[in-house]
Amino acid sequence: MEIETMEEEAIPHDLLCFVGSCSSLRHVSCSLRGLYVRKTHIRTIAVTFGLLGFLFLLDSFIIFFFESPNLQSTSVFNNSSSVFQGRDSYINKKQSPVHMYDRLLNLASSALAKLKQELSNLWVEPYQKASSWEPCEERKVQSNPGKSVKSNGYILVSANGGLNQQRVAICNAVAVAYLLNATLVIPKFLYSNVWKDPSQFGDIYQEKYFMSVLKDDISIVKELPPHMKSKDVEAIGSQITDADLVKEATSVDYIKIVLPLLLRNGVVHFLGYGNRLGFDPLPSYIQRLRCKCNFHALKFVPKIQQVGSLLVKRIRKYNVAPSMLDTQLLGKFMENKEDHEEAARGSIKSLALHLRFEVDMVAYSLCEFGGGKNERKDLKSYRESHFPLLLERLKNATYISPPDLRKSGRCPLTPEEAALVLAGLGFKCGTYIYLAGSHIYGGNSRMEPFTRLYPNVITKENMLTQKELAPFRNFSSQLAALDFIACATADVFAMTDSGSQLSSLVSGLRTYYGSNRAPTLRPNKKRLAAILTENGTIDWNNFEERIKKMIQQGQKVGIRSYGRSIYRNPTCPDCMCKHQ
Ligand SMILES: *[C@@H]1O[C@H](CO)[C@@H](O)[C@H](O)[C@H]1NC(C)=O
Ligand SMILES: *[C@@H]1O[C@H](CO)[C@@H](O)[C@H](O)[C@H]1NC(C)=O
Ligand SMILES: *[C@@H]1O[C@H](CO)[C@@H](O)[C@H](O)[C@H]1NC(C)=O
Ligand SMILES: *[C@@H]1O[C@H](CO)[C@@H](O)[C@H](O)[C@H]1NC(C)=O
Ligand SMILES: *[C@@H]1O[C@H](CO)[C@@H](O)[C@H](O)[C@H]1NC(C)=O
Ligand SMILES: *[C@@H]1O[C@H](CO)[C@@H](O)[C@H](O)[C@H]1NC(C)=O
Repeated sequence: MEIETMEEEAIPHDLLCFVGSCSSLRHVSCSLRGLYVRKTHIRTIAVTFGLLGFLFLLDSFIIFFFESPNLQSTSVFNNSSSVFQGRDSYINKKQSPVHMYDRLLNLASSALAKLKQELSNLWVEPYQKASSWEPCEERKVQSNPGKSVKSNGYILVSANGGLNQQRVAICNAVAVAYLLNATLVIPKFLYSNVWKDPSQFGDIYQEKYFMSVLKDDISIVKELPPHMKSKDVEAIGSQITDADLVKEATSVDYIKIVLPLLLRNGVVHFLGYGNRLGFDPLPSYIQRLRCKCNFHALKFVPKIQQVGSLLVKRIRKYNVAPSMLDTQLLGKFMENKEDHEEAARGSIKSLALHLRFEVDMVAYSLCEFGGGKNERKDLKSYRESHFPLLLERLKNATYISPPDLRKSGRCPLTPEEAALVLAGLGFKCGTYIYLAGSHIYGGNSRMEPFTRLYPNVITKENMLTQKELAPFRNFSSQLAALDFIACATADVFAMTDSGSQLSSLVSGLRTYYGSNRAPTLRPNKKRLAAILTENGTIDWNNFEERIKKMIQQGQKVGIRSYGRSIYRNPTCPDCMCKHQ
């Protein structure tokens, strides 16, 4: 069902209207009316949106990696556009819009204004072949040779990074424990000054469930036994850091480097563990176990599932029958207990977008984004205070000019570019777009071209009340879990950077459980850059055609190729089962 035909509800427009307008498109007004709650809840909505502003004042989630003493916190938020303000107003004090593609933006907004009907294939996966891959039956997943009776010792893991990096670390640790016949102690998460989240495994994932799903594969304990605890792991030489293992180490590396320590001391500690186990070559049962860990053993705790399902229901507005993805992610909380009548009315489709355009990424890329001298100066000073190692490395590297970086596809997509891609694909102006993450670099000045084309931007902060978010407030990883859920369950998921861990894990999950009905859009940055160099001359039809072709090619999910992540692309015999 299309948004325009939804029954109108008496919510004042101005209360819910986002910044920007859909050009001359008046009938698709930019209110959120009809999006979420029923009439009886209007008061709640009013309160929600009233309180909205304050949410951003709180020390909320930090997708923003690096602390910056220079950050000024914007202290007052007057309207809902404030979702893009906050600590990211690091640079643009005046917040005048920054555009790189005025001509294309104008073409896009008049094209969207004329757009009557979206193509029906926008919300589905184009390649039906993918449907022959399915999650394996539980028992097939458990077809590992079985765990060894004798344990060679204990493996301690301290995972670094945020939610998604930790997830990869956990499953890599499971595989390593199996490989070394070791007992895994439930991984610890390192506290970082960047994420500022003290959450531990059990605050995010269901510990008991994790242990029980993997019980036939490896031994897992909650803590080291007392006689081991007294050992000074570092002093006995059993601490393993990134310096001891290459980045994508093989099973041979682990046997050679880690096993002797484990046998000698009965314990090893992987400190700052992350991406330290490569994907190939690895015995097939290890791949299978990794896959089982990522897709079957890790369930969010009920606290996250509960609020996550609330978020998903509000984004969809009505309770539709839960999909396999919903059930896997949210368990019983997605059950349809109420509102059968409402359910029959169908749901609103929404797109989730992970816009990886935060200041750390922007500065690190060394690219330029149309902001001129000020931008150059600000990003330079950001690099100086946050990336001294990068600057050191650059001294010896051959210089690549910003335009060349752009041409080679190494620049993160700006909100403007992301909006142009969506417009090129033909998503209507009224499309509800869930924005994952936050603290867009440049704030409103950067979001303006985006909201001009797509004003209906939704986030967890404006879909959930302050009260609902309160238990998560100081826990950036738990907040990130809500974004993870919203992206994984969205009708369409669009990423801007296929290298980001969130995008990669979410797209893998959608492939695994999505039953071929969970399309993911992956722009090819190099091809996009080539198309956009013609921004001064290209006509809209040609632009659309080339964007569509680019996205379609990214949607071909073939069998995982050698060395590629099984978390991102589970379509291979070691992970999924081929349905005949
Ligand atoms: C909020 O709005 C009021 C009245 O429109 C204005 O005086 C005030 O400066 C605004 N605050 C900010 C931070 O924009
Ligand atoms: C509300 O958003 C509009 C659109 O960006 C902006 O021009 C205006 O300054 C904002 N209002 C306040 C008071 O911040
Ligand atoms: C692990 O146990 C299996 C079976 O008990 C044995 O074949 C294998 O060699 C052991 N591997 C290591 C690294 O101890
Ligand atoms: C840069 O190159 C010089 C000479 O080739 C070398 O001595 C120096 O260690 C290099 N510096 C870095 C940071 O790699
Ligand atoms: C969050 O942390 C701040 C300071 O660190 C503390 O004052 C506040 O009570 C905490 N809030 C919650 C909901 O835990
Ligand atoms: C946009 O087009 C102009 C020519 O009209 C070109 O000089 C510029 O490099 C293009 N911008 C980008 C980012 O490719």
